Amino acid sequence: MKGQVGLKNKKSVIAGLIVLAALIFIGVRVYQLQNDHNQTDRVNKVAQHPRKQTSQANRTIVVFFSRAGQNYPNRDLKVGDTNQIANLITQQTGAKQYRIVPKQAYPYNYQATVKRATREQNENARPKIKNKLPNFKKYDTIFLGYPIWDAHLPMILHTFMASAQLNGKIIIPFSTNAGSGWSDSLTMLRKQYPQATFKKGLSIQGSDVKYSHAKIEKWLNRLGY
Ligand SMILES: Cc1cc2nc3c(=O)[nH]c(=O)nc-3n(C[C@H](O)[C@H](O)[C@H](O)COP(=O)(O)O)c2cc1C
Repeated sequence: MKGQVGLKNKKSVIAGLIVLAALIFIGVRVYQLQNDHNQTDRVNKVAQHPRKQTSQANRTIVVFFSRAGQNYPNRDLKVGDTNQIANLITQQTGAKQYRIVPKQAYPYNYQATVKRATREQNENARPKIKNKLPNFKKYDTIFLGYPIWDAHLPMILHTFMASAQLNGKIIIPFSTNAGSGWSDSLTMLRKQYPQATFKKGLSIQGSDVKYSHAKIEKWLNRLGY
């Protein structure tokens, strides 16, 4: 009788162990499957990222005006300040780039340029643009860059704005200066494009551009680029 009970107990223990082992096996398997799923998810996300970047890049264009040559204070620029920022934006976003080229180039000499710029402002002139404007129907987002001239937008920007229909687009302004900050340039852009969405722009002093690469990168990151 005692022997029979002992045998029964042994059988129950073995059965219990088998059930426990089965439960552990199932648990481990579920964990593995879950983990595989998460891994696949992560890989998919990484794979999707460049696709998203590419379509975003295709719908974005960096438009700018900039002038190389002598500039304030006592600088001689091979590549203009705004042009340097435009290049960094283009590099990081993978977007297209369009440079507003004046039909009549501005002088290399700083004072001569100031003289002409002042005249153009006084006359409310529309200096001609040499190169064909991009087809903005192809783009949703326009980075728009310019230097501050005589505390305003250079008049060639007004020439540009008169022809470029950017209402309904996302505009991200960037600008360089020698102390005036944005001046009234943002007000002018908003006035010209009341139906555009303006995102946080970036204004940098020209002489600081070469020390501002990290700042530019961070600004673009925050914009989702
Ligand atoms: C004609 C002219 C007028 C300028 N007027 C101003 C001004 O009113 N306020 C200011 O802060 N900087 C002024 N600047 C300095 C430029 O805004 C600054 O050097 C800028 O970084 C130049 O950019 P760029 O090299 O892309 O043309 C002027 C420069 C020029 C050539």
